[in-house]
Amino acid sequence: MALLSSLADRALGAVATYREDVATARRRDPASLGPVAIALTSPGLHAIWVHRLAHRLWTRGAKVPALVIAQGARSVTGVEIHPGAQIGRRFFIDHGMGVVIGETSEVGDDVMLYHGVTLGGRSMERVKRHPTVGDHVTIGAGARVLGPVELGDGAQVGANAVVVKDVPAHATAVGVPATLQRGAAHPEELIDPAIWI
Ligand SMILES: CC(C)(COP(=O)(O)OP(=O)(O)OC[C@H]1O[C@@H](n2cnc3c(N)ncnc32)[C@H](O)[C@@H]1OP(=O)(O)O)[C@@H](O)C(=O)NCCC(=O)NCCS
Repeated sequence: MALLSSLADRALGAVATYREDVATARRRDPASLGPVAIALTSPGLHAIWVHRLAHRLWTRGAKVPALVIAQGARSVTGVEIHPGAQIGRRFFIDHGMGVVIGETSEVGDDVMLYHGVTLGGRSMERVKRHPTVGDHVTIGAGARVLGPVELGDGAQVGANAVVVKDVPAHATAVGVPATLQRGAAHPEELIDPAIWI
């Protein structure tokens, strides 16, 4: 009985997470046609769904199956998320292709990435070597965030920036190497990709 109840709880939790993910994708992508269309066609959603399974396997010690599943998702979506990476709720990748998220990355809740973003390392040591991304962070297309740097809550990284130093909460970093920009838009103004496409 306890087993049945635990399975039912898990199923309900999975359905709730699925609904939350789809709602997030619809909110972030005004071009979406509806929940079924976006669930079937969004590579960003597919990538995070497979990552959750791969991460569960990784943390339970099934590291080779986790890597195989992650590489399968990469082949289909163009998004490479190492199964060791820790990713929060309502995470969304728009367009998908070319995103790489390294093993020791930590990503908060309500984070949005565009295509071509790298959360990468700068060290070959087996230590924390990838970024820590706060809540409500937006990272523009093609940006590289390298090393164990911290992006504070609400920070933004401009398209094609290369970030090698911490970015304070609610600040915007642009350029190569990235520097802080004054008077940036609020992150919630960045949710309509049609502005840039
Ligand atoms: C960085 C960003 C968040 C700033 O937005 P914003 O606060 O509205 O900034 P503005 O457009 O007012 O630009 C302010 C200044 O920063 C510069 N700037 C803006 N984005 C930049 C970028 N990615 N790299 C370098 N400089 C940039 C502008 O040229 C402007 O410079 P100026 O003051 O000398 O004229 C935004 O430009 C960006 O890069 N968003 C990511 C969008 C994206 O990846 N879209 C993909 C859709 S598929």
